[in-house]
Amino acid sequence: MPEKILVTAALPYANGPLHLGHLAGAYMPADVYVRYQRLKKSDVVFICGSDEHGVPITIRADRERISPQQVVDRFHTMMKESFSRLGIRFDNYSRTSLPLHHKISQDIFLKLYESGYIKEQDVRQYYCVSCRRFLPDRYIEGECPHCHHGGARGDQCEACGRWLEPEQLVSPRCKVCGSAPEVRGTKHWYFALSRFQPDLERWQESKAHWKSNVREFCSGWFGEGLTDRPITRDIDWGIPVPLQGAEGKVLYVWFDAPIGYISSTVEWARNRGEPERWRDYWCNQDTRLIHFIGKDNIVFHAIVWPAVLMAHGGFVLPDNIPANEFLNIEGEKLSTSRNWAVWVDDYLEVFPPDPLRYYLAANAPESKDSDFSWKDFQVRNNSELADILGNLVNRSLSFVEKHFGARIPAAEMLSESDREVLAAIGRTAATIGSLLEDFQVRRAVSELMNLARIGNRYFNDSAPWSALKQDPARCAATLNTTVQLQLALAVMMDPFMPFSAEKLWKMLQAPGSHRDVRWQDLEGLRLPAGHPLGAREILFRKIEDEVIEAQVARLHGSKPA
Ligand code: 2FM
Ligand code: ZN
Repeated sequence: MPEKILVTAALPYANGPLHLGHLAGAYMPADVYVRYQRLKKSDVVFICGSDEHGVPITIRADRERISPQQVVDRFHTMMKESFSRLGIRFDNYSRTSLPLHHKISQDIFLKLYESGYIKEQDVRQYYCVSCRRFLPDRYIEGECPHCHHGGARGDQCEACGRWLEPEQLVSPRCKVCGSAPEVRGTKHWYFALSRFQPDLERWQESKAHWKSNVREFCSGWFGEGLTDRPITRDIDWGIPVPLQGAEGKVLYVWFDAPIGYISSTVEWARNRGEPERWRDYWCNQDTRLIHFIGKDNIVFHAIVWPAVLMAHGGFVLPDNIPANEFLNIEGEKLSTSRNWAVWVDDYLEVFPPDPLRYYLAANAPESKDSDFSWKDFQVRNNSELADILGNLVNRSLSFVEKHFGARIPAAEMLSESDREVLAAIGRTAATIGSLLEDFQVRRAVSELMNLARIGNRYFNDSAPWSALKQDPARCAATLNTTVQLQLALAVMMDPFMPFSAEKLWKMLQAPGSHRDVRWQDLEGLRLPAGHPLGAREILFRKIEDEVIEAQVARLHGSKPA
């Protein structure tokens, strides 16, 4: 059986629209990787969905005085649409409020409970008297006991990334009304995470290929010693705990969210009319399970979730967890509460998706935080997409139109430099392939642009405009070679810029879809001499200064003059 690859991208909370931080962290690198695997004709399934439970949702509902269901309905639809407009093409985009997901989560909880990995405990927790509720997760804020950041939440400190419990916060206060909470008795169900430390450590020893940020983060956790963690909450939105005596309690959102990867795969299989097909991926130790996430999700994916999978048994464990760092905006940390963010739908009102996809790939926060700057976005669009890739296409295809009746001229004799360009195709395809196998999107997209640079240099050096009269056969061979290069580029662009890839394929009037080509066959991919080209379009438009200034002004919250 060919190897199976199951790719997931973190389920985004359905509590707000998508922004560029989301894209740079998980969705862009995952989509690039999956598109490459699809071109390689790997057996790959790409899974995602909206994370619709937990305090992130109820806080938004409280603030807007609407129900949590209304919140998730609005943002699930909005995010799904934004992903699709950006060309982020999941095989299934589900949602965790589905009965199917509730059932699978409850079954997994029960299996762990019956196996003795989940135990009830009486605990004392913060309670806000004026709001009349317990204060789990984001309902409580205080000082982080580790890095002393003032705005740490009850479940996590955003500054240092530590996973917290509310009782660890220094000077805690209710997030909603600001009052100091009191302590009251309640009961919760704890997952025996501590019992899995030896197995987790042994398992991670075989993961030398993981990114260093993930490995270092985990070894920090192991060094401190894993402790058992509560996986239930006192809130009224979520998956009910399926036990007698647990009325009013729901599963902690970070218990059910990763199970969403399984339930979304089950939904995918059902929608295909092959309801058992999900097992080929999840219940197959040869599957490569790859979780794309942002760095704030590392502990849940690299420690807690694998422990849940181990406790359950029968499921494959993650093969890799390529976690990206954060994307800052104009040099400052992205913050949705301060509206210091670039929202995907706002972007798409003005620009096509591919320049953003290109920019986020070229500037991916792979090994350290990176920065989105509108000016830099403009520079990359104008001087790389338009001046290099777009220019190569435009000037060579208009030349073929004008001097060869829009038909690909014959290459009767290839020169040394023609052969070099054609050889660069296969070499670049292999390099991009191995970089993407290693999740290095940044370097991969720069190889793509380098190939276009090679094409431009070759076109300049060959000077077909001079050869046209003096040596028409040489001129024809140059144009033939340049068109063959663009045919390969159209396919190689797909992981990064799928809309432009399709447009270029159409301009070449190449048969079928560029997605039918196998990545491994790129080296020998050719259109025959005499093949008629399609209508030429501008592949990438330059962006004017005023357009960028308007975006900067919008970010700063002021209207352009
Ligand atoms: O950080 C977040 O946006 C979470 N909703 C990610 C969940 S990932 C997975 F476990 F579903
Ligand atoms: Zn309160």
